[in-house]
Amino acid sequence: MQTVIAVPLQQNSYNVLLAPGGLQQIGRVLQDSELVSPGLGQKVLIVSNPMIWKHYGDIVSKSLEAAGFEVACCLLPAGERYKTLRSVEKIFDSALAHRLERSSTVVGLGGGVIGDMAGFAAACWLRGIAIVQIPTTLLAMVDASIGGKTGVNHPQGKNLIGAFHQPRLVSIDPNTLNSLPTREFRAGMAEVIKYGVIWDADLFEQLDDTPRIDQPRYLAPEMLMDILRRSCQAKADVVSQDEKELGLRAILNYGHTIGHAIESLTQYRLFNHGEAVGLGMIAVGDIAVQLGLWSKDCRDRQYRLIRKAGLPTQLPASFESEAVLEMLTADKKVKAGRVRFIMPKDIGVVEMTDRVPPEAILAAVRNLQAA
Ligand code: GLY
Repeated sequence: MQTVIAVPLQQNSYNVLLAPGGLQQIGRVLQDSELVSPGLGQKVLIVSNPMIWKHYGDIVSKSLEAAGFEVACCLLPAGERYKTLRSVEKIFDSALAHRLERSSTVVGLGGGVIGDMAGFAAACWLRGIAIVQIPTTLLAMVDASIGGKTGVNHPQGKNLIGAFHQPRLVSIDPNTLNSLPTREFRAGMAEVIKYGVIWDADLFEQLDDTPRIDQPRYLAPEMLMDILRRSCQAKADVVSQDEKELGLRAILNYGHTIGHAIESLTQYRLFNHGEAVGLGMIAVGDIAVQLGLWSKDCRDRQYRLIRKAGLPTQLPASFESEAVLEMLTADKKVKAGRVRFIMPKDIGVVEMTDRVPPEAILAAVRNLQAA
């Protein structure tokens, strides 16, 4: 049961491989010229964090060594607060110590933070060497690992420093989700639901028809594979039409505008990224109904799906809604002084608009607050 999804680009096209048990096969996979072309050089630097390494380090490095790769590893502390230039410098130190060459490969083994830093280090080292992404969280599988966005945070803001650097392969082993903390799985499910709303109405229906989507153990293996396949396909479709986010790719930011503001205003402590995106999607659904763009039925279906995924649906009563408006004007998604929103028009259809009255935003954020 393995699936290959192509990400066709003008240059640097690549594949996303979905294969249960794929970690054990990664050495053979990286040598497969049908999957990875042109071929990779002999030296590989795996970037990971200690927890992921404990689970999968041996499996991956042994598989690579058995296939003849020369393997080194660089472990970085886990967590968004370590997504810094300092951590990337540590990857450069390892690259130097292990004499990585133009033909060498960096492998990002972990969640989105690891993948973004590994990708950025690969983009910079010797002006760009190969990166292979092996995501181990649902969020990284369906979003961060595909599309070539790499980078780190600046003390003044998330992802302010970065580069587009497409991977040579994304290798997803759904079995790794079995050891993912439940909260992390649910965070990834927010992005899955997002694809249902912005791109793939059938995925939305499938999620709607599934009794439980809040833990992988409630999903039959074929169902989990199908949800992953549809989500990765949605991301691949969008990225291949707009690699550098000149237009269409912005739809992937559905729910993220208000979500980022919520994340930031709660000091990244109360909600993780997926949870904040879920809240952002609820708020935007509410705005879309206020503006007459979306039906109440669609809004309610989206809300029920987010709740069914075990994601939070309320902000604390103490949350200062007005601060969201101030924050949005400083957001990266502002164009010519107006805040750009991705608005749902139907299930599976969105449009971009910069004509959202501040009162509608405020009302939607207030509606998220617990009484
Ligand atoms: N995560 C949004 C994007 O890749 O464009």
